[in-house]
Amino acid sequence: MAGFSDRALAIEPTGVRKMFDLAGDEAIHLGLGEPDFQPPAVAIEAFHQAMVDGHNKYTTTAGLPPLRERIASLWSHLEPDLGIENVCMTMSGTNALLNISLAMLNSGDNILLPNPCFPLYGPHATIAGAEPRFYACAFEHEFVPQVSELEELVDENTKAILYNFPSNPTGATITEEQRDELLEFARRHDLWVITDEVYDRIIYDQPHVSFLGAGYDGVVMIQSFSKTFAMTGWRMGYILSANSAIMEQVTKLQYYITACSTDAMQYGVLAAVEQAHDYPSEMRDAFRRRRDLICARLDAMPGVSCHVPEGAFYVFPKVDMPGWTSVDIALEILKEGVVCSPGSAFGADGEGHLRFAYTIDVKLIDQAMDIVEKVLTRLHQAEPPGQPAQF
Ligand SMILES: Cc1ncc(COP(=O)(O)O)c(C=O)c1O
Repeated sequence: MAGFSDRALAIEPTGVRKMFDLAGDEAIHLGLGEPDFQPPAVAIEAFHQAMVDGHNKYTTTAGLPPLRERIASLWSHLEPDLGIENVCMTMSGTNALLNISLAMLNSGDNILLPNPCFPLYGPHATIAGAEPRFYACAFEHEFVPQVSELEELVDENTKAILYNFPSNPTGATITEEQRDELLEFARRHDLWVITDEVYDRIIYDQPHVSFLGAGYDGVVMIQSFSKTFAMTGWRMGYILSANSAIMEQVTKLQYYITACSTDAMQYGVLAAVEQAHDYPSEMRDAFRRRRDLICARLDAMPGVSCHVPEGAFYVFPKVDMPGWTSVDIALEILKEGVVCSPGSAFGADGEGHLRFAYTIDVKLIDQAMDIVEKVLTRLHQAEPPGQPAQF
């Protein structure tokens, strides 16, 4: 046979999925990032009704005008002039991210990406033919990038920088002051800012700080309803920007990627946005209780320290266990029946960490933490493995 493209061969399955695939039926899952809630009932009803009413067709590429209008108005407190032309519906945040990489990047370009990060960012740049170039979001700096390091990485081929707050996998958020510094960096180097704000509604103690409306017109936001309305399986997201040039390109590309988003589901999402906009607050309260429990439990374990996450539903503790990689440790925990993700699955700087998605109820979290504690206590006293585990 004739073989495969360099772009397909250059990318690998993610470590998060690998752990999931290795898990037995009885395992307690703290691996995948999806809320354990049902979407709002009004969304399910409106989705069903829309199908009954015959909304089973192609829509315009950018999506249903009433939904886009509603989305534009959700962000108009930050960008007052947004209209439907500033929103393009996509089939998930993942689709939005890939579209943006394809719209912005050429071979020979590079894009600055967080490390650790959502594992799709790097491969999306690779698929677009560009070089992913990683900046640190280090534990020592509360997982916030340092502009001095960004200055060392940027060069004349840098086209864009991606920021993700609240962050997957760290749960970190930023202050307005930090946001302004990060935007100023982009402005100095004339970069596109891709801001992934899919966790903007899952935030605990401070209001969300967006990159929108902060005075830089090179900002493009990617969004998803997966987390906001617990509808990961619906695959609904969007791209939003006040910059009409980028909207024109992404809307054109979206046609060649999926033609349009799903017809009936957009009615479901519209109902959720209109009638259940506060829905995430129920989830948020549950996540906050779980966060407090899991952080307290982890902090009391040998060699473990946490930053308490301010957003999303992940905790990314540092696990100081000389001689053991994060894959070794995650596999040992898995053998005892708990699925978590090795920090290295999120990039080289994730090594030395584990990621726990607290998307199960507190009783199960407590049970899982008993197991994790037992494993870490045992590993702490055991000889490290001669060879790091491969998986
Ligand atoms: C930071 C971040 N961005 C984007 C996505 C993509 O979400 P979806 O493709 O489900 O819309 C995820 C999913 O986990 C994520 O964590």
